[in-house]
Amino acid sequence: MANDHPSGGDAYRPIAPFLPLLDRLLELALAHVRRGVVRLLRERGAHRVLDLGCGTGPLSRRLADAGLLPVCLDASPTMLAGALGRACRPPRFPVVLGDARRLPFGPVFDAVVLSLALHEMDPPLRAAAWAEMHRVLRPDGVLVVVDFTLPERPGQMSRLAGAVIAGIERRAGWMHPPHYANYRALMAYGGLTTWISAHGGRVLAERHHFWGNLGVVVVAAR
Ligand SMILES: C[S@@+](CC[C@H](N)C(=O)[O-])C[C@H]1O[C@@H](n2cnc3c(N)ncnc32)[C@H](O)[C@@H]1O
Repeated sequence: MANDHPSGGDAYRPIAPFLPLLDRLLELALAHVRRGVVRLLRERGAHRVLDLGCGTGPLSRRLADAGLLPVCLDASPTMLAGALGRACRPPRFPVVLGDARRLPFGPVFDAVVLSLALHEMDPPLRAAAWAEMHRVLRPDGVLVVVDFTLPERPGQMSRLAGAVIAGIERRAGWMHPPHYANYRALMAYGGLTTWISAHGGRVLAERHHFWGNLGVVVVAAR
């Protein structure tokens, strides 16, 4: 288990005082996406779900509310402190400090969700996390990845939304420069969907939000 963020130190420590506010803003922006992920997992009959890179645990809380069994794992002690604080006492789900490159589980999950974490990883970390996500899945399980995509038919709204997202990511780069560099590298690659097909993911379903700038992609176990 990692004591520090894999990018060196805890990249999220500097924003600890702002996390409650950021959580609220993100929840406002992402509630419909998160609801959609929970619905999708319920429709697929998933029960045990690894919320990888869970941050302060917004998705795990929704999953627990829906009667699923999430495990909330993250490499940042700062983010996990937020998750523990909001998970209720006693916590309604396990909150685990760990590294996506070495998950401390066997193949026990019906689903692994990676939400808004792939873009901040560097390419070797992405590849290692991808392999681990598959390893901890049951043979009939699914991966659900939420991250930034390139709109297929860019219009005014999709360009605007893309510029807002890029601005937010640039700010994240002030806190932790590799974050922005990794985001740019993913987008230069073609975004989430291109990355998944290049890494051999068999896509079962795909949805887009924010005028094509955010994708939710369901991938079959290998
Ligand atoms: C932008 S936050 C997203 C949080 C949450 N999943 C959400 O959708 O709101 C990305 C999270 O990925 C985590 N992360 C990055 N690299 C990781 C790694 N190697 N192992 C585990 N977590 C990692 C970060 O610590 C951070 O909490």
